[in-house]
Amino acid sequence: MSSESLFSPTRLGAIEVRNKIAMAPLTRSRADMSGVQTPLAIDYYGQRASAGLIITEATNISRQGRGYAYTPGIYTDAQVAAWAPVTEAVHAAGGRIVVQLWHVGRMSHISLQEGGAAPVAPSAIQAGGNVFTEAGYLPPSMPRALATEEIAGILEDYRHAARLAKEAGFDGVEVHAANGYLLEQFLRDSTNHRDDRYGGSLENRARFPLEVVEAVADIWGADRVGLRLSPLSTAIGDTPLDSAPMETHSYLARRLGEMGLAYLHVVEGQLHGGNGADLFDVQALRAAFGGAYIANNGYDRQRAIDATASGHADMIAFGKPFIGNPDLVERFQSQAPLYDAPVETYFGGGAEGYTEFARV
Ligand SMILES: Cc1cc2nc3c(=O)[nH]c(=O)nc-3n(C[C@H](O)[C@H](O)[C@H](O)COP(=O)(O)O)c2cc1C
Repeated sequence: MSSESLFSPTRLGAIEVRNKIAMAPLTRSRADMSGVQTPLAIDYYGQRASAGLIITEATNISRQGRGYAYTPGIYTDAQVAAWAPVTEAVHAAGGRIVVQLWHVGRMSHISLQEGGAAPVAPSAIQAGGNVFTEAGYLPPSMPRALATEEIAGILEDYRHAARLAKEAGFDGVEVHAANGYLLEQFLRDSTNHRDDRYGGSLENRARFPLEVVEAVADIWGADRVGLRLSPLSTAIGDTPLDSAPMETHSYLARRLGEMGLAYLHVVEGQLHGGNGADLFDVQALRAAFGGAYIANNGYDRQRAIDATASGHADMIAFGKPFIGNPDLVERFQSQAPLYDAPVETYFGGGAEGYTEFARV
C-alpha cells in the first residue's frame, strides 16, 4: 500500500495534525520530586515535534494522583512554568502536543502520598506489580476505598489540571483511562466492587470516567479532549480484565462519541504483548465511538502504513520507537534503520538515552 496515507495530515476534533504518526505517552521519570520538569524536557519534546501529535508522558493531576517518583505534575504554578517552554518548543517546530492527565488510584505507595496516607481506589483491593519510589521499586500499598462524597474533589482536581494545561499552552488533553490506573479501576468490575452510584452496573462503573471527561471538556471543549483505553491489558498492577470487556468499553466509547470527543486512543491487546484481535473487535469499538481513532501497541512502519491506508485507524501512536529515534517521522519517510535505546535509560537518569544517544 502507498505510504502516503501515513505522512498526510488529518484532524482529531479541533486539532489539526500534519501526519498520522503520534508519539505515545512515555513516562521517563526525569522530573524532580515536586513534579517539575527540568529544562531537559524542552529539548526532549522539541526534538520529537515532527510527530503529528505528541502525547506527553502521564502527568499527575494532584499529589494524591501520583504513584511513581520523578513523574511530572500539572497542579502547581511551578509545574506550569516548567511545561510552558516545552509546549513553546513543540509549537515553534510546527508540532502539536497534548498532556496526558493521570491519577494512578491504587497504583501508588504511601511514601509518595501526602503525610504517608494510603492511596485511594474505587475499592480496597491491593494492586500487584510494582511502583517506583525514591527507595526503588516497591509493591503498591493497600488502598482505601473512596467515599462517595470525595469523588467531587477528584473531579475538581481534574478540572484544575485541565485549566493549568491551558495556561501551559497545550493543544488539548488526553484523559488516561488505561493501564490499570484510577479510571480503569472504576470501569472494570474486577477492581470496582462499590455499591453506590459509581459501582455495580455498567452505567455506574462508567460514570466516573465520563464525569472526568465532562469536567475537562468544560474547560477545553470536547473537541480538544482525547481518551486512552486498554481494554485487554492486565500488564500494570496485574489488573484483571473486566468480565465483559467488549460490552463495557463499547458503552463508554458510545457515550464519548455522543460527547464529541476529539479522539479515542486504544492500546490494542496486552500492553507490550499481542494485539488481542481474536478476543476483541477493535473496529466495533471504533464504530461505537464514531470519531477519530488512534491505534497503538507494537506497530512498525509497514503495519502503520497498512493500518492508515486500509482505514483501520486514523493515526498510529508509537511508544518505544520514539525513545531512541526523535526523528522517527523522517526515518520512516526515508526508510532509515531505527535505533533501539537501551531499556536502562527508559526511566530516570539524565540526558543519555533521553536527548542524547551514544549510539554504538
Ligand atoms: C518507558 C515507557 C513508558 C510508558 N509510559 C506510559 C505513560 O506514561 N502513559 C501511558 O498511557 N502509556 C505509557 N506507556 C505505554 C506506551 O504508551 C505504549 O502503549 C507501549 O509502549 C506500546 O507501544 P509501542 O509498541 O509503540 O512501544 C509507556 C511505555 C514505555 C515503554
